[in-house]
Amino acid sequence: MNEAAVGIDIGSSKVCTIIGELNKNSQLQIMGVGTAECRGYRKGIIVDIDNTSRAITNSVEQAERMSGMEVKSAYISMPGGLASLVKNRGVIAIPRDEKEITNDDVKRVLASAAAENIPVDMEVIGVIPLQFIVDGYENIKDPVGMMGLRLEVEANIITAPLSAVQNLVKSIERCNIDVLGIVIQPIADAEALLTKDEKDLGIALIDVGSEITNISVFTNGQLSFTKLIPIGGAHITNDISIGLKIPVSEAEKLKRQYGCALVSMIKTVEDISVNIQGTNSAKIVSNKVLTDIIEARVQEIYYLVGRELEQSGFKKLATCGAVLSGGGLSFINGAAEAGASLLGMPVRIGSPKYIGVASPVYSTATGMVKHILSSKSGVSKNYSGDEQESASVSRTRKQSLGKSNSVIGRIKEFFEEFF
Ligand SMILES: Nc1ncnc2c1ncn2[C@@H]1O[C@H](COP(=O)(O)OP(=O)(O)OP(=O)(O)O)[C@@H](O)[C@H]1O
Ligand SMILES: [Mg+2]
Repeated sequence: MNEAAVGIDIGSSKVCTIIGELNKNSQLQIMGVGTAECRGYRKGIIVDIDNTSRAITNSVEQAERMSGMEVKSAYISMPGGLASLVKNRGVIAIPRDEKEITNDDVKRVLASAAAENIPVDMEVIGVIPLQFIVDGYENIKDPVGMMGLRLEVEANIITAPLSAVQNLVKSIERCNIDVLGIVIQPIADAEALLTKDEKDLGIALIDVGSEITNISVFTNGQLSFTKLIPIGGAHITNDISIGLKIPVSEAEKLKRQYGCALVSMIKTVEDISVNIQGTNSAKIVSNKVLTDIIEARVQEIYYLVGRELEQSGFKKLATCGAVLSGGGLSFINGAAEAGASLLGMPVRIGSPKYIGVASPVYSTATGMVKHILSSKSGVSKNYSGDEQESASVSRTRKQSLGKSNSVIGRIKEFFEEFF
């Protein structure tokens, strides 16, 4: 039986669960997908554990039914902008009796980098090695197998607020699902949407969700910058609701059916009839007025994205332009064109290319599963000499994971496995 992985992406509008396996050609195969509306998670923070747990259970059950598998443990996502990247150095001595640097040495040096200068209210959820240094020789990508006495690493340490991590984990564990690790959203999105060349040459990822927009930049193959702005697709819906004086539910329908980001794309001005639920009356609105409202908010989102990219100094490093993901803007006609002209760089819409999940709203959960499975199969670097974590789904009945250590401890093990 192939090993399966489960990714649960909790967003401000929905929880999405994806179960995936690698087929015999090591390609990702989607086995189960579930989505459920969620109102308990706002701007990357759990505000209602009960509501969030219900949505998680709901989405997991859908994915279970589709796949015929039972989920007992999973990986979860966290918005990149909630996490901080801290550049640290770690150093260890290589035992004199060792002939060459081993996976264990790499794990030790990464752990030593992750132990430095981390505030007590932050939790380490990942480590991205930028370069290894062996006996003073810099820019080494993979020191395993080299000879040396002193191993150093320069690494970006991914940390997240401890309380945010604990509440996220609690809401999953309430559903009797064990958390195996946290994958930050840009790393997952990148796995689903970006090519290796794009990450090497430099590219920006803009995930516009419901309430948050996460901006990240990849350079030299690694995540180099991540920032969150508290604005997303729900703000567009609210603007329509207020601007046209119609209920939010009708505004959402209007946006999905007629949403356009550029007034210049409107060829003919037309009237749209909006049925107001609960009454017999209909309201007539113009497609141009609707587009005026959407365009103003789209411009604001891109203005804020552009400002973050400029101020951080990463805009000029995104030589391949930007990829737009998440449901907040991707479905709106002309959103990529508006982005290209407002950001002054090529913008394309990114969507996972797998059957059953070919939509920007599935990018994060799909990328999580791909990241986990490809790391375990050795496609990407795995420095763990340990046995891999047990499969997270069962085709028959729930089994205990057999690991009693704390979740935070498991998360630490998880990142060690990945780098
Ligand atoms: N077909 C569609 N047309 C237009 N907008 C859509 C469509 N489908 C979803 N959206 C919008 O996408 C947004 C939700 O996107 P997404 O699922 O990426 O957010 P999320 O991950 O739940 O939230 P966040 O990332 O902010 O926590 C909502 O604002 C919704 O209105
Ligand atoms: Mg999201």
